[in-house]
Amino acid sequence: MNEQAAMTAGHVPDHIDPKLVIDLDIFQDRRYHSADGPHRALQGIAEEFGRSIYWSPHNGGHWLLTSHELIFEAWRTPDLFSSSAVAALPPMPDGSEPWLPPLSLDAPEHMKYRMPLIRAFSPARIRTMEQDIRLFVGSLINDFKAGRRGDFADAIAEPLPSIIFMKIMGLDLTRLKEFRSWARNMANPDTQERLDAAGQIAAMMAEVIAARRVQREDDLLSYLLDCEIDGRKLDDRQMEGLCMLLFSAALDTVTSTLTTTMHHIARDPGLQARLRREPQMIGEAVEELLRLYSVTFASRRVTRDVDFHGATMRKGDLVLLVIPLANSDPLLFAGGSGFDIDRAFKTHLAFGAGPHRCLGSHLARLELVTFFEEWFRRMPDVRLDPGCTPRFSISMVLTFDNLDLVWDGA
Ligand code: HEM
Repeated sequence: MNEQAAMTAGHVPDHIDPKLVIDLDIFQDRRYHSADGPHRALQGIAEEFGRSIYWSPHNGGHWLLTSHELIFEAWRTPDLFSSSAVAALPPMPDGSEPWLPPLSLDAPEHMKYRMPLIRAFSPARIRTMEQDIRLFVGSLINDFKAGRRGDFADAIAEPLPSIIFMKIMGLDLTRLKEFRSWARNMANPDTQERLDAAGQIAAMMAEVIAARRVQREDDLLSYLLDCEIDGRKLDDRQMEGLCMLLFSAALDTVTSTLTTTMHHIARDPGLQARLRREPQMIGEAVEELLRLYSVTFASRRVTRDVDFHGATMRKGDLVLLVIPLANSDPLLFAGGSGFDIDRAFKTHLAFGAGPHRCLGSHLARLELVTFFEEWFRRMPDVRLDPGCTPRFSISMVLTFDNLDLVWDGA
């Protein structure tokens, strides 16, 4: 990048090797609007720059890690790449970030908050939810199918994880509409919208937590109120922090995965035919779709001055882990930017790695697999509505805001 471009884009600290500076705003790049969806655009960007380490002067200035090897190493080296004081990007206007335990904590505090959630989201506990999820997902699909066209994002991808989450937490389902708009805004690239949504969620959670302190129910909030950290029951700040994290981790991730994977499926009639013929392959398809359409980024803060694979990093630098590029890295996945349900090696990093690996992966997989099983049982072949262009937005999560589908009569 030449000096003039760097000056226009933002600040480049003195310690950054100019050869590593690229003029890439990962959230706003123009290529997103000319390519075939955000993932293809990201792959195009990786082909242009290569998978390595770069500094982007945009969004306050941050490192970008774009290869599988580097991202995996960063996740597995938490003493160098810290989770505390990390920032979501684009950064909040006042520099503030919500406190999100255990995600925004390092050892040893991290494990104290992770432990209660490990038990709450264990595979055995999640399995008990399957029948309810199947019934609910089936009815969502039946409602959708009643027309001959519909916005998949609005009718299914958004309400599906929201309602499941509200039931698990013990929230009032009559507030679904407000809840959905806050959930949507938590991933809004407009930072003021994000800030407002976080405030509204905190207020709602505070109300429900207060009610559960008086009267326990059979829900996650009541369970958390009876957990202990350092021998003490959780106070309001701890409860609100945990709820806020679950809110930001459990909703838009699943919504985005549903929209990005359906965007693929709707354009792949061969895959639709195969999954209808061989429903036992749906689990494999979900893994390959999670790999190819990973929807999140992660960020870390460098804890000391270091030479990391030739890049001079300083204590306090922010690092963005571009997970979708780790998962299409051709060094690990032959033909990594293409979908191949028969690929032998599908071990992806969509759920992260290291101490902060996703605690909700069992729930997310159950939601996705159950959804597709019911979808292929109930729906005829679908395709993108040629009259509607899917719009997508990119913040720490990549998602389609609308995904209009059409289908012929069953
Ligand atoms: C397809 C859906 C999902 C994806 C792609 C996903 C992805 C991720 C990733 C990449 C991380 C690590 C972030 C980092 O290292 O900074 C993470 C952490 C986390 N996820 Fe998920 N997630 C999904 C669904 C869920 C769900 C449904 C829950 C609900 C419980 C959940 C709960 C969590 C929690 C609690 C953490 C923090 C763990 C810790 O810090 O120890 N996730 N997720």
